[in-house]
Amino acid sequence: MSKERVLSGMRPTGRLHLGNYLGALKNWQQMQEDYECFFFVADWHALTTDYANTEEIRSNIREMLIDWLAVGIDPEKATIFIQSGIPDHAVLHVLLSMITPIPWLERCPTYKEQQQQLTGRDLSTYGFLGYPVLQSADILIYKAHKVPVGIDQLPHLELTREIGRRFNHLYEEVFPEPQAIHTEILKLPGTDGRKMSKSYNNCIYLSDSPDTIWEKIRTMMTDPQRKRRNDPGDPELSPVYAYHKIFSSEEEIAEVAEGCRTAGIGCIDCKKILSENMIRRLAPIHEKRAVLMEHPEEIDAVLEKGTAAAGQVAASTMAEVRTAMKI
Ligand code: TRP
Repeated sequence: MSKERVLSGMRPTGRLHLGNYLGALKNWQQMQEDYECFFFVADWHALTTDYANTEEIRSNIREMLIDWLAVGIDPEKATIFIQSGIPDHAVLHVLLSMITPIPWLERCPTYKEQQQQLTGRDLSTYGFLGYPVLQSADILIYKAHKVPVGIDQLPHLELTREIGRRFNHLYEEVFPEPQAIHTEILKLPGTDGRKMSKSYNNCIYLSDSPDTIWEKIRTMMTDPQRKRRNDPGDPELSPVYAYHKIFSSEEEIAEVAEGCRTAGIGCIDCKKILSENMIRRLAPIHEKRAVLMEHPEEIDAVLEKGTAAAGQVAASTMAEVRTAMKI
């Protein structure tokens, strides 16, 4: 019996933080065991918003791949590749663009939102409007069954299904309907209690050293009501407690919660427990990272092998597409 196929991509944003790890990568890592997985760096997608700013793209790709491999995305189990290494994504994008009505793209919620949010750059470009068509090509070219993505990406998945359906209807049945899988089971707050995000400067990175981790946790926000050591607090209002739930043992979690409510434990002691647990948990990732930093050729080899394998799958879909379209 052949396994169902999973495909997902990430824009190369550089070093990944704990939110990226717990929200997406951990799911990818688990899916490797049960599915035929394709994971790729969406470097062309990065250009749709950052076309004017390309100096960091190479190093961002490298940093992100180091994190993928360090957390256990395994090239023996999954096909790891880079979008720009497979020109057929662009070929399918052009063909799909012929059958995609512009209003489908204009009414995509991410289109207007991002244009409003990312001020200071001109996003009235052809490429930015076509972002979801490129994403559809990424997905359909591998005939993916399942696509793990965050909730913000659901409109793009819906559009992918509509474009695939339209193709199948106009020509021949080529593309199966891909299903989204929600990955964000866990909402991890940043060190200031807001959503963890690079642009808020409130991230703990997978690559942060033990000293940096302690410094970030030491100065982390706690229950704002608990101003003095003797004030009782509410652990549910403290992001420190949200982290304990992920990194600490059942006993420790119960202990710090009780200590917080009764003012039996000070915030610094509570933070020390968390910091030690987090540093211990991240140690194997740090070790693997250090090895990979010393051996950049390993990363190149992984990409080369994965891109060759993915390219064959893409080429075989493109042959079907050309037959269906009679071109
Ligand atoms: N748009 C996705 C994001 O910003 C990245 C992406 C590009 C992707 N192509 C994809 C995700 C295909 C899943 C499948 O997160």
